[in-house]
Amino acid sequence: MNNSKTKRFGILTAGGDAPGLNPAIRGICKAASLEYGMEIVGIEDGFKGLVEGRGRLLRPSDFSGIIHKGGTILGTSRERPFKDEEKVKKLIYNYNKWELDCLVCLGGNGTQKRANYCREAGLNVIHIPKTIDNDVYGTDMAFGFHTALEAATDAVDRLHTTAASHKRILIAEIMGNSAGWLALYSGIAGGADVIIIPEIPYDITKVKGHLDNRMLSGSQFSVIVVAEGAKTVADAKLDRKAFRKKYEGQPSAAFRLQNELRAIGNYDTRVSVLGYVQRGGSPVPYDRMLATLFGTKGAELMAKGKYGYSVALSGMDIIAKPLKEVAGKTKQVPADHLSIKSAKLAGTAFGD
Ligand code: F6P
Repeated sequence: MNNSKTKRFGILTAGGDAPGLNPAIRGICKAASLEYGMEIVGIEDGFKGLVEGRGRLLRPSDFSGIIHKGGTILGTSRERPFKDEEKVKKLIYNYNKWELDCLVCLGGNGTQKRANYCREAGLNVIHIPKTIDNDVYGTDMAFGFHTALEAATDAVDRLHTTAASHKRILIAEIMGNSAGWLALYSGIAGGADVIIIPEIPYDITKVKGHLDNRMLSGSQFSVIVVAEGAKTVADAKLDRKAFRKKYEGQPSAAFRLQNELRAIGNYDTRVSVLGYVQRGGSPVPYDRMLATLFGTKGAELMAKGKYGYSVALSGMDIIAKPLKEVAGKTKQVPADHLSIKSAKLAGTAFGD
């Protein structure tokens, strides 16, 4: 515990980066220091830096002028300290050495889970949700999603013009391993002809049927949007380990789909894996806004001494949910989601 009257918190960003991390850091640090007079230890490279004791007191100039910047000024890593007892000891040691009153963890599902482990280990924690996948459980929206959606939709638009010119089938692979929010939304916004997401396992003969129907009706090209975590109906029955073993060293979802189509039809197909361009770049205004709201909520929670929460958007409200209720879960696209229903009505196929 920090014995002086001034509250001091540590802040880290963990997991894959997402546009909006810097606005969130700025929001929480400004509110915490200017409004509540707190001190801030900026921890480098997520949980790795916490374990290794790499942190420093932040000055206002550190978190000023960063609202428009992509990535994270603190750096990030995919460190999983709770797999190793020694690392957990070091993490707790550094929390105490820096005399923190709270640890603020900005990150996705994995970070939410690790924040909860920290809570169980006796630390005061607050989690702030970010991810381009929008799969953090407990919040309607995480920041990062809207920026990635813009990049992915722009790519689907671009693929349309080249697909139409060459009368080809263009397959765009979009990030999202366990949840297909980004593929679904960019597919709908970009007018994709087939959208394949992890939540709806696909049957390649149904995909073929849809492509053939389009050709028969005069549309000589198609754009397919596939999430990186998409699986066939048969593969969806495999557990995680068996699936990984089956496709070890093999190309990603879009290439699998291309091979499956080639095996059953004479299609001229091309693949475009969007990859990390979806995660990079300057956050769009919505993400800057949401990140700022989440950050200032985090500061308010600390000022009130409310620890052990994950900040969340619920409708138009910024709320806080107990970490123990939300950690370890994934927010997938529900089967009856309105957007799936309306896309189907508008002629988009899902391969099911
Ligand atoms: O940020 C989430 C995510 O983009 C997933 O969609 C993707 O599977 C993963 O990150 C890949 O990230 P990395 O290569 O950094 O581990």
